[in-house]
Amino acid sequence: VNVELSHAYRLLNYGPTVLVSTTDGVQANACAVAWVTPVSRTPPRFVLAIDPGHKTYENLVESSECVINLPTVDAIEEVWICGSLSGHDGDKLAAAGVGVIASRRVEAPRLVCAVAWIEAVLVSAPVVDGTPLVLVEAVAAEARAGVLDHQNHVDVARFPTLHHLGGSRFALPGRIVEPA
Ligand SMILES: Cc1cc2nc3c(=O)[nH]c(=O)nc-3n(C[C@H](O)[C@H](O)[C@H](O)COP(=O)(O)O)c2cc1C
Repeated sequence: VNVELSHAYRLLNYGPTVLVSTTDGVQANACAVAWVTPVSRTPPRFVLAIDPGHKTYENLVESSECVINLPTVDAIEEVWICGSLSGHDGDKLAAAGVGVIASRRVEAPRLVCAVAWIEAVLVSAPVVDGTPLVLVEAVAAEARAGVLDHQNHVDVARFPTLHHLGGSRFALPGRIVEPA
């Protein structure tokens, strides 16, 4: 069947939705980002497609830092609130009841509702033909005990990450399979 071009992303958009936390030096903020992908293992780099109108984009470009927080299904309400309100309109984290803890390498805080954190610095934020691509590089990464299994894979059975299907719908990881 035909897929609306504006819905084409929904065919691919299964990576974990993250919360990107930033600060403007006075107030911490976080927004939901589904469009995030690793693009290099060494150096450890990620691209985030973040709308330049978001407070998060402004904070990221001005502070050159962020934390990519990995939430699980337990934090679905926090993800939804952080993806619905804007830090331009006030203290979203307080409104959402999202606690923060200090990061190790960046001023932007980690979110308590996450199970793992990638602290990152901005490499570049080009707007390519109208599309903002925020390239960041990890400077520290930590996960709660048990999140990574003995082979350093996220144990998605115990820590189900949220995979945005579009709208208000998310999928949780199902089975883990491996080729013979
Ligand atoms: C599940 C979900 C995923 C989202 N993914 C993105 C995204 O990848 N890029 C983006 O620019 N906005 C995305 N948004 C929208 C922002 O999170 C939302 O506009 C937010 O209010 C921006 O907050 P800020 O102005 O405080 O930065 C998403 C929203 C939700 C609910």
